[in-house]
Amino acid sequence: MKRVAILISGGGSNMLALVQDMAAGGYATPVLVASNDPAAGGLARAQALGIPTAAVDHRAFPDRASFETALADRIDAARPDILCLAGFMRILTPGFIRRYRGRMLNIHPSLLPKYPGLNTHARALAAGDAEAGCTIHEVTEDLDAGPILGQARLPVRPEDTAETLASRVLKLEHRLYPAVLRRFASGDRSPLMLD
Ligand code: GAR
Repeated sequence: MKRVAILISGGGSNMLALVQDMAAGGYATPVLVASNDPAAGGLARAQALGIPTAAVDHRAFPDRASFETALADRIDAARPDILCLAGFMRILTPGFIRRYRGRMLNIHPSLLPKYPGLNTHARALAAGDAEAGCTIHEVTEDLDAGPILGQARLPVRPEDTAETLASRVLKLEHRLYPAVLRRFASGDRSPLMLD
């Protein structure tokens, strides 16, 4: 049984999808949900499920390194085998990334290598893309560019806005992330491509 820590910054819908799948599949257990934002809605949702939570407010630290040290202390105390970034919106330094090398996953709302960074859906629409989607990748020191573990795509509709696309891609994220975590937990790092 793998121990999984999940880092969030917002509502935590991907976190919830992961937690539900772990419970259904019995292959892993959530040992911590941590957020850089004490007001993140996902913290309350995790607490309600009885999952240990931690709020490490990045604004309370003088610099990125000291914030990350405090966050890593909380993570390490939970002894996770796998770390899932699920809507975690802080850039991580190479030191933090090296500490969890090979066991840290991220979900990104675009078909990487297209559109690393922010505003992915608006950029896909502006480019006139026929398809959009999401990607799970291993976290390496290059932003949104680690080895791809899974991808799911959908057709862009003529009437799509950044908001409608985001909400349809989010539903896809909830299918893709648990499916990739299951494989990763069993040692399978070959990319999973969902249509
Ligand atoms: C998701 O769409 C996720 O892909 C995105 O934030 C959202 C979080 O939603 N992540 C990024 O943009 C990472 N750069 P959630 O809190 O409901 O899971």
